[in-house]
Amino acid sequence: MTDLIVKEDKIIERILSTELVRVTERAAVSSARLRGRGDEKAADQAAVDAMRRELNRLPIHGRVVIGEGERDEAPMLFIGEEVGTKTGPRVDIAVDPLEGTTLCAKDMPGSIAVMAMAEAGTLLNAPDVYMDKIAVGPGYPTGVVDLDASPADNINALAKAKGVPAGEITVVILDRPRHADIIAACRKAGASIRLITDGDVAGIIHCAQPEETGCDLYLGSGGAPEGVLAAGALRCVGGQMQGRLILDTQAKVERAGKMGVKDPKKKYDMKELASGDVIVCATGVTDGALLRGVKFHPRIITTETIIYRSVTGTVRRIFAEHRQFEKFKLD
Ligand code: FBP
Repeated sequence: MTDLIVKEDKIIERILSTELVRVTERAAVSSARLRGRGDEKAADQAAVDAMRRELNRLPIHGRVVIGEGERDEAPMLFIGEEVGTKTGPRVDIAVDPLEGTTLCAKDMPGSIAVMAMAEAGTLLNAPDVYMDKIAVGPGYPTGVVDLDASPADNINALAKAKGVPAGEITVVILDRPRHADIIAACRKAGASIRLITDGDVAGIIHCAQPEETGCDLYLGSGGAPEGVLAAGALRCVGGQMQGRLILDTQAKVERAGKMGVKDPKKKYDMKELASGDVIVCATGVTDGALLRGVKFHPRIITTETIIYRSVTGTVRRIFAEHRQFEKFKLD
């Protein structure tokens, strides 16, 4: 009996992996209508509304563990919100309906609509605080880099494992004043740096495909929710990641505590950030290195989506043409 349930859940999970495409597609299209309008909030809200509507059509018993904030501060997709038709498997849902709100508002490359679905209880319930992160792609010995090692040590260890001089390592870092020391240390170690203005989910994913992207190592702090989403994607394609929540006030420690974080200084590895079977799905809003953005043609809207599935390690890209018939229109 148990076997049957597990088997059925796996089949449902397999079917759902393509169903998630609709969720991020709709969020991407809705926010893309507000590209370049300089209104981050409106673009984000459009993505949230669309994502929530689609999530509630899925045959799942979903619980939002990474969302738009806590119940009192977010009217929709708040942490703890139940989504889905409540008929299918119990799952954790992590959403970032518009990752890179500024990129979308300024019509700059790299904003995406992204979400993850995982076995219930397996995604870290991370509050919306910063997280220190380090990530590398697949093919390296376990522990080749470490969050607590210096940038120079990490670059040299990675270079050695890759069989190249340190000067051939490229580090991805969010361009923020708080990263000045890390940037200086990486330059001193001889590495090249790709500064990104926003969007560290894609920044981390890029390190999993160094041959294509030229990126080897991710360093620095960004949003904790984005950290969990990125860890989910890396679980599917291989790689290593560590993260530590930055809980620098008592209020943050207490907030995290309420969400189950017992040790505020804990260093999480990838499998602790996303421990179970997970599917990660992202659709481009603006054109970027990972995905093409939404295109509006007179009668057709096109989208590009990537879906990662940890059970098989499959990565699918879906390029969709949405015909705008009267009876079936994307919002
Ligand atoms: P938003 O979409 O919420 O604006 O996040 C964009 C982002 O660049 C994330 O990818 C990153 O984790 C975070 O912001 C970094 O935060 P900050 O802009 O405060 O440095």
